[in-house]
This record gives sequence, C-alpha cells and structure tokens, in this order.
Amino acid sequence: MDNIANVIGALNDASREPLYKQLQKKLRSAIENGLLSPEDPLPAERDMAEAFGVSRITIRKALEELVREGLLTRRQGSGTFVANRVEKNFSHLTSFSEDMRSRGLTPSSKWLEKVESVVTPEEVMSYGLSPGMKIYRLSRLRFADGEPMSVEYTIIPAHCIPDIENIDSSLYEALSKEGLRPARALQRLRAVLLSKEQADLLKAAVNDPGLLVERRGFTKDGRIIEIAQSFYRGDTYDFVAELSG
Ligand code: GLP
Repeated sequence: MDNIANVIGALNDASREPLYKQLQKKLRSAIENGLLSPEDPLPAERDMAEAFGVSRITIRKALEELVREGLLTRRQGSGTFVANRVEKNFSHLTSFSEDMRSRGLTPSSKWLEKVESVVTPEEVMSYGLSPGMKIYRLSRLRFADGEPMSVEYTIIPAHCIPDIENIDSSLYEALSKEGLRPARALQRLRAVLLSKEQADLLKAAVNDPGLLVERRGFTKDGRIIEIAQSFYRGDTYDFVAELSG
C-alpha cells in the first residue's frame, strides 16, 4: 500500500493523547470506513514506525490491543492483517443481480430511463452533491425469473463510468470494471404504499404495500458513488440477515 500515514492520516505530536492511542483510533476508523479492508496487510512494524515517525514500541503497543480486540490478526511469518470478522459485522453489500442469483432466481431488467443528465437543486441539497454535476439517471424494472420484483431509480456520478452504454444488466458489474464498486453503504428500509406508476409496473394495485430500500453507496475513499431507491412489491420480497450476539 501507499505510505500508511498518507492513507489513514498522520499522528499529532502536539496532542496530549498518547501516540499509540491516536494510532489505534486512526486504524479503527480506517477499518470501519473501509479505507482498510479485511485481509489487507499492514506494513511491517519498522516501516510503520518510519511512516508515522514514532518508535517501534509505540507501533507494537497500538497493534497489540487491536489484535486482542480481534480487529487485526497476526499470522506467523507473514505479518499483521485486517481481520475478516469486520466483514461479518456488516451485512454484505450485494447487488440485485447477486441477491437474486443467491436465491436460485435469474435476474433481468427492463430499462425505463437511461440518460445522462445534471443534478436537480433538490438532489444537490439532499445528497450534498455539487451543483451542475453530471450524472447518469437510471430507472429499471427488475425481474426475478421473469416476475417483476422492484422498480429501481438510481443516480451515479457520470465521471465514474466513461460511457453510459457500459452499464448493461448489472450496475455493480459496470462499477467493478472501473474499480468503483461501493465499499460502504448506508441503507434505509421502510414500508410504503405503491404509487399508481409503481403498482402498474409491478403488476400490483395502487396503494398495495411495498418496501422501499434506499441506499447511498460510497467508494473506499468516501466519495459518493450511487444513490438508489428500490421499491419492492411487499408480497414478493423478504430480507434475510444473519446476526450474531
Ligand atoms: C440493489 C441495491 C441498489 C444497487 C443494485 C445494483 O438493488 N439496493 O442500490 O444499485 O442492487 O444491482 P445490479 O448490479 O444488479 O444492477
């Protein structure tokens, strides 16, 4: 990796907080924010000491506690790695296509809208985007084994994918090709009543119960990469989450 101090931020000599504590905090938040991913190797202790301008003892002290907490793991002879359990703490960030395939169903989509456009003032204000930013506006009716499952409205910054036509059956596949698949997302689920337009598309009746899944996806370095709203028919979709105590 690049100099780790550039990736997670330098320590502050002038602070009253001990350096090893500062380093722990930086590592913790880098892991939580996806700046460091499960299985990422950390540089050797001596390289970290040099990068942060501290002693090896400080580095060792910081890492030891994170290892005890299970955020990092040590592997004999090969060094220290970000532990995998982080991944299990979060639900996996899957795409519609992957979700459906994992249920043994075949995903497909019908494009309702696929245009290059500019953010509206409402989008600028709600999502903190820059005025005038070019985006792709993607609306799709999404099917599983030919049955309509959801209507999905997505916007992504246009500069992320050079040509809108590169987005075909799966948005996440297209983003992956650019190395920009979301590394982190905020997701909100809530019950809604389907509008006339949504109900018609989903072969349901207006005001039938629906499920709205909103997702804001971010790249590894925290830039917004997608804003999506998916309206599912309430009677055809369920969410399964694996939880641990
Ligand atoms: C789910 C998510 C959306 C995401 C989509 C990508 O539906 N809720 O936020 O955009 O998956 O799916 P695909 O890669 O199949 O286009």
